[in-house]
Amino acid sequence: MTILVTGGAGFIGANFIFHMLSQHPDYRIVCLDKLTYAGNLSTLASVMDNPNFRFVKLDICDRAGVYHLFEEEHPDIVVNFAAESHVDRSIENPEVFLQTNILGTQVLMDACRKFGIRRFHQVSTDEVYGDLPLDRPDLFFTEQTPIHTSSPYSASKASADLLVLAYHRTFGLPVTISRCSNNYGPYQFPEKLIPLMIANALNDKPLPVYGKGENVRDWLYVEDHCRAIDLILHKGREGEVYNIGGHNEMRNIDIVKIICKALGKHESLITFVTDRKGHDRRYAIDPAKIHSELGWLPETKFESGIQKTIAWYLDNRQWWEAIISGEYQDYYRKMYAKR
Ligand code: NAD
Ligand code: TYD
Repeated sequence: MTILVTGGAGFIGANFIFHMLSQHPDYRIVCLDKLTYAGNLSTLASVMDNPNFRFVKLDICDRAGVYHLFEEEHPDIVVNFAAESHVDRSIENPEVFLQTNILGTQVLMDACRKFGIRRFHQVSTDEVYGDLPLDRPDLFFTEQTPIHTSSPYSASKASADLLVLAYHRTFGLPVTISRCSNNYGPYQFPEKLIPLMIANALNDKPLPVYGKGENVRDWLYVEDHCRAIDLILHKGREGEVYNIGGHNEMRNIDIVKIICKALGKHESLITFVTDRKGHDRRYAIDPAKIHSELGWLPETKFESGIQKTIAWYLDNRQWWEAIISGEYQDYYRKMYAKR
């Protein structure tokens, strides 16, 4: 079994590669990644010498390059993590989101059609459903919730989802889609809420909370997401969408306070800054389908997952300090200086 993992030098893709190599030691994993600002080869250092692993630097939009790789590897399964993934960047510059997230997905599916495939799995997001009101805790996203996007990022992911379903209906491509809630854990790029707050707190820098910090996200430990995708690949039904989430809703401000407490930092570091444009209020997944059909349940509770994550960032300062010392500084100044 050969699995092509795109975007495997990023946060979730890398964790998925570690999961698959340890759970399926007889599988061959080929990782394709463009190594954008978010891709980091050092993340994959521990598997580079594994004979069942190959890394290829490639853009999913590069049709000739992708076809050549399919010719060489003939993957049985493709799992597409490759994407521009940060909402704030999509507000600054939507174009690359449309190129990679939509057109790149199309190139991959065209290759799947041309060379034959057992499964194309699209890693999508709960953000395609838009947001829920803060005063209706009884409402959750199900797979039937209409697509209703807010940001250029979520619009690009939703467009890709529609294209994936169209390739299934029109060409019979064997596809599945998963829509997961916010992930946290090791190797997340420090532009996202949890690692950004950990890194800033450790450096005694202000902790920039958007608006009043009342927006709610439904947090899932990354390993639980990887296990869910593994199950969908092996037992999921073709043409189906599976929501993934563990009923762990938290307000942003409460997450930041937990991080302060765990690191022994004073809450006076918290700074309320101008809100994100179009800021989604609340995400909340109903995972009943993946639970009843595939038996999936999250294993890591937030209380232990966040402590594990903080410990990882403490033990792996080199990994994230190398990132925030480079072009990230320009990004940070641009996004936060006048906020
Ligand atoms: P990430 O930004 O950490 O990693 C993305 C990876 O894709 C990077 O390694 C990058 O180099 C690579 N990439 C970008 N453009 C590429 C291109 N054109 N060709 C090849 N590689 C390219 O993202 P992540 O947080 O690991 O998210 C992975 C996937 O999961 C994305 O599709 C995202 O939409 C989805 N998702 C993320 C979350 C979350 O909370 N992070 C939640 C649900 C779904
Ligand atoms: P983020 O990690 O960017 O994920 P997403 O927007 O895809 O959910 O942000 C999570 C939440 O944290 C979101 O409501 C925006 C908020 N946030 C801040 O308050 N400050 C920050 O510096 C960042 C990056 C995010």
